[in-house]
Amino acid sequence: MQNKEKTGHESEYLRVVFIGDVVGRGARRFLAEVLPKVRYRIRPDFVIANGENSAGGLGIIPKTAGEMFQAGVDLITSGNHVWDKREALDLLRENPRILRPVNYPPSVPGNGYYTENLSNGATLRVINLQGRVFMEPVVDNPFLIVDRLLKEDSEKCVFVDFHAEATAEKQAMGFFLDGRVSVMVGTHTHVQTSDVRILSNGTGYQTDVGMTGSINSVIGMKRKPIIDRFLTGIYQRFEVARNNLMMDFSVFDINARTGKCVQASTWRIFQDEMNQGLENLSACLGQEGQGAAPA
Ligand SMILES: [Fe+2]
Ligand SMILES: [Fe+2]
Repeated sequence: MQNKEKTGHESEYLRVVFIGDVVGRGARRFLAEVLPKVRYRIRPDFVIANGENSAGGLGIIPKTAGEMFQAGVDLITSGNHVWDKREALDLLRENPRILRPVNYPPSVPGNGYYTENLSNGATLRVINLQGRVFMEPVVDNPFLIVDRLLKEDSEKCVFVDFHAEATAEKQAMGFFLDGRVSVMVGTHTHVQTSDVRILSNGTGYQTDVGMTGSINSVIGMKRKPIIDRFLTGIYQRFEVARNNLMMDFSVFDINARTGKCVQASTWRIFQDEMNQGLENLSACLGQEGQGAAPA
């Protein structure tokens, strides 16, 4: 955990939780079990989760988005898998709280950013971007697009989900945005990186937040079909792994007045050690809420 000004959570600080890609039904159920407890213990002002794999591991549909919102997610980001199910076209057209990367062609349905007016008077803008290195090159240059967006707009607190494969592209984006946004996290690899920190000009950064899904999986999928495919080159049907679930997430405190990140930490809670994981989280960031704890 990195803390530049102070620990704790006061009204001039915004606490944002970002949850790594939620993969399939088991992950959605675990999210519903653990997120209310996380919310109760650390009192975030805003919770974002990447939902591009929420429907059977590929795509997002109204039911899976609804379950994520019901679990306590305030805004869903996505990435290259967002269009895997056709229902996403209408879903994103109709729901501004589900983002697709902003650098898709302008004719593509949905929005790439969202601005929330929070109850303490602060405003938080969330931007979803997609990388181009080792990915299908259908999107516009994410560096130029985000640069233009930030020049057009004067929001103080900006959170970026940069959905990208290559570490170098994500690191370069982090330094490019340092001092211009509050936080940039990467998603898409489904593997949590240990490099969460605050860059020198005040931007919270992490190369990849990770995943909500099975630790004993290959990026959320059952292992055998994937190993068999590597052994034989023959296409196998991939299935979501449902056991040994975990939720990877990161917590960022932002000074609402300056837009700078002041505290950044990353977490993993396992389903079978959930209480211990929650205790550890409370010990570092605890702000237990009023009223009865969620069951
Ligand atoms: Fe993903
Ligand atoms: Fe992805």
